[in-house]
Amino acid sequence: MKRRKAISLSAGVAGITGLNASNVFAAGSKRFGDTIIPPSKETGKEKHVPIIDAPASVKAGEPFSVTVEVGKTVPHPNTVEHHISMVQLYMLNEDSQFAVNVGTFNLGPTVASPKITVPVMIQSTSTLYALGYCNLHGVWDYSVDVKVG
Ligand SMILES: [Fe+2]
Repeated sequence: MKRRKAISLSAGVAGITGLNASNVFAAGSKRFGDTIIPPSKETGKEKHVPIIDAPASVKAGEPFSVTVEVGKTVPHPNTVEHHISMVQLYMLNEDSQFAVNVGTFNLGPTVASPKITVPVMIQSTSTLYALGYCNLHGVWDYSVDVKVG
């Protein structure tokens, strides 16, 4: 099965979700439930992108740290009126059609910085997907591959 760069997140389902080829839209766009996300033009500089920091290669079953940060290069506002309300991390391994929710982190405005770190263990080469939710500008995504070797 060919790997796809899109995942589908069913509304209200925070656990296991399905992949579907129909989730791929215009080049680089992705669909998350009813939300279509256009390709980021300035991924590294966009204040909403949830940048993932993870090792490129790990050992099977050994915990490693994954950090997801929104506003890493350009700070995002953190006020009651405009803030990152949630960060989610998903994992899809090369042998599965289903993305698994690694964690969902609800963030309080003004007091919680939109940066989370979580220990992760994988058994085979996987793709990590992060979603960042801005209360004004919607959901943004980012992904990285982590090899097991
Ligand atoms: Fe925003």
